[in-house]
Amino acid sequence: MVPRKIIIDTDPGQDDAVAILLALASPADLDVLGITAVAGNVPLPLTEKNARIICELAGKPDAKVFAGCAAPLKRKLVTAEHVHGKTGLDGPQLPTPDMPLQPEHAVDFIIQTLRTEPAGTVTLCPLGPLTNIATAFQRAPDIITRVQEIVLMGGAYFEVGNITPAAEFNIYVDPEAAEIVFKSGVPLVVMPLDVTHKVLTTKPRVQAFHDMGTEPGRMVAEWTDFFERFDKEKYGSEGAPLHDPCVIAYLLKPELFKGRMINVEIETTSDLTLGMTVADWWGVTDRAPNALFMGDVDADGFFALLTDRISRF
Ligand code: RIB
Ligand code: CA
Repeated sequence: MVPRKIIIDTDPGQDDAVAILLALASPADLDVLGITAVAGNVPLPLTEKNARIICELAGKPDAKVFAGCAAPLKRKLVTAEHVHGKTGLDGPQLPTPDMPLQPEHAVDFIIQTLRTEPAGTVTLCPLGPLTNIATAFQRAPDIITRVQEIVLMGGAYFEVGNITPAAEFNIYVDPEAAEIVFKSGVPLVVMPLDVTHKVLTTKPRVQAFHDMGTEPGRMVAEWTDFFERFDKEKYGSEGAPLHDPCVIAYLLKPELFKGRMINVEIETTSDLTLGMTVADWWGVTDRAPNALFMGDVDADGFFALLTDRISRF
């Protein structure tokens, strides 16, 4: 089987880090053409540096990391240090990366790659605010029909918001970018909080990473130990929700997830519900379906996959 070509667009973030490790641990399934950093959990200088740290941890110093947009299309950047810590990867002590940042802007890399690779063969995997993707679509509309699929982490329906009562962080930070992506017509698979809140790093699951006795295993355990305190306090949950790895797990084992093809639109005007993903889960409108919106996941199967792959480093 030919590995699926993907671009990971990311704002590391401990959960982004686990997603990137999962992808890099699966070369027979996924060909990571590049990793494009965007401002989100922490500002861009940190997200691009964190992406390089993660690649080196995975033993892939030749991976291509690009810096993208430093701020949303029209709004001031909102970050999430309260969840991810000052560095964005708080938890373990981390080395300064040696591998270089690519000179091209991430948006130029996304445009160039989609124009060069055969149409319909590259999947975009956004794990943060959609600013890079939307900017690429605005600057080069010809690439939109060349995208195979977008599999993204963002939004919420039954779980409602995590950064406001109505909105999930990735969508809230840049709702105008999200609107461009959700209205683009590109085949969309959405991993909302409705599924990510079902893949919690319980103690036995974190212990499995410690028990690997490897640096990547230890990092994943220490990142999730740090990252979980926010959700435990807020939701009283037993562990951290591994939001972003759901995107990569879907590419590796789509049968782990269940969802519905529905219409999803983005609130971009109301201050009260800005960034809300208005998901027509019950089909009460005649708005055309535009996204496979996930509602359930086999959590044990997800962690079995994740543990197996991370143990391969
Ligand atoms: O709301 C969760 C999402 O926001 C995750 O992608 C996390 O990394 C942050 O970007
Ligand atoms: Ca993220």
